Amino acid sequence: MAAFGTVFMPEMAISWFDGNSWSDAEVVSSDSLQLHPGAHVLHYSSTCFEGLKAFRHEDGSIKIFRMDRNLERFAQSSQLLALPEIDKAATQKMILDIVTRFKSDVPEPPGSMYIRPTHFGTEPAIGKAASPSLTSCQYMLLSPVGDYFSGGDTTLRLLLEENGARCAAHMGMIKSGGNYASALRPIMQAKADLNADQVLFCPDGDVQETGAANFLLIDGDEVITKALDESFLHGVTRDSILTIARDLGMKVSERQLTVDELLERAAKPNCEAALSGTAAVLTPVGTLIHNGKEYPVGNGGVGATTVKLRQALNDIQWGKAEDKHGWLTSI
Ligand SMILES: Cc1ncc(COP(=O)(O)O)c(C=O)c1O
Repeated sequence: MAAFGTVFMPEMAISWFDGNSWSDAEVVSSDSLQLHPGAHVLHYSSTCFEGLKAFRHEDGSIKIFRMDRNLERFAQSSQLLALPEIDKAATQKMILDIVTRFKSDVPEPPGSMYIRPTHFGTEPAIGKAASPSLTSCQYMLLSPVGDYFSGGDTTLRLLLEENGARCAAHMGMIKSGGNYASALRPIMQAKADLNADQVLFCPDGDVQETGAANFLLIDGDEVITKALDESFLHGVTRDSILTIARDLGMKVSERQLTVDELLERAAKPNCEAALSGTAAVLTPVGTLIHNGKEYPVGNGGVGATTVKLRQALNDIQWGKAEDKHGWLTSI
C-alpha cells in the first residue's frame, strides 16, 4: 500500500482571493500550481491547512466526518495568521463538490478519502516580513488513504521532551506548516538516537501533544488529557473520543498533566495511553522514554480501552453505530 498521503485524485477545487473577493471555485488539475517566486507563503509561511475524512458506508453512501469543526478551525487558523478571511459556506461547498466528483474513488473501510483544505498567502511581496499577504489561495486536495497504523499488536515509543516545545506557545492552536517544520528536528533526532516513533512535547513538564496528534492517558475508567489552551492543536478526534468516553460512562478529566504524574500513573498495570488524530485515529502508546530510561505504559501492549474507544469511533464513521451527535454530513 502506498504511504499515507502520497496518492492524489487528479483534480482539486481551487479559489483565489484578489484582495477584495474570492473567485468562483474551479476544478483544476492537482499536479501543479503556479505561484510567483516572491509569494508571501514561500518566505513568511503564511499558510494553514486542515485534514478530514470522507467514509464509504455499506449502502454505498459517502459521509464526511465533523466537517463543521474542521471548517471552524480552518477559519480560525486563517484569522490568527492574518490571512484573508475565508467564506466558510463557499469553502464547505468546495469540499462537498470535489468529494462528490470523486465519490466512486472513496475507499472501503478501513480506508477513506482524506481531504486536505489548504490556504496560503500569494502576494508577491518579499518585503512583507512583518505584514500580511493581501491576496491568497485556497484549494481542496483529495488523497485516498488506507489504515494509517495497521500495526496490529504494535505500540508506539514516545520520547518525553521537557526542554523544547513543538512550536511557539501562541501558535499551537493554529494548524500551520511552520509548526510542523519547527518540530521536525527534535523528532528526527529522537528517531535516530532512541528509535522513538514520535516526541511527546512536555515543555517544563506540561504534557501537551506529539508532532501530529494529541495525547490521551487512560487510567481505568478515566481519560486524562490537557485542557484546551492556545499552546496545542484542538484535535477534532480528541473531542470525538472524549465525547464517546463520556457516552460510555467514563470520567473525562481535561486538566494539566505533568510528566511526574504521567510516569507515576503509567507504572500501574492497567494504565493505557494513546495518540488521537484524523490520521492516527487512536493509536496505542506502549513505551515512554524519559531521561535515558524506558517506562512501559501499563503492560506495554495494546490497551483494551484504547481498542474499544477506537472501535466506537470507527463504527460511527463507517455507519455501523448510530450517529447520535450528528457528526456525519452526506454528500
Ligand atoms: C499537531 C497535531 N495535533 C493534533 C492533531 C489531531 O487533530 P485532529 O484530531 O483534528 O486530526 C493533529 C492532526 O492530526 C496535529 O497535526
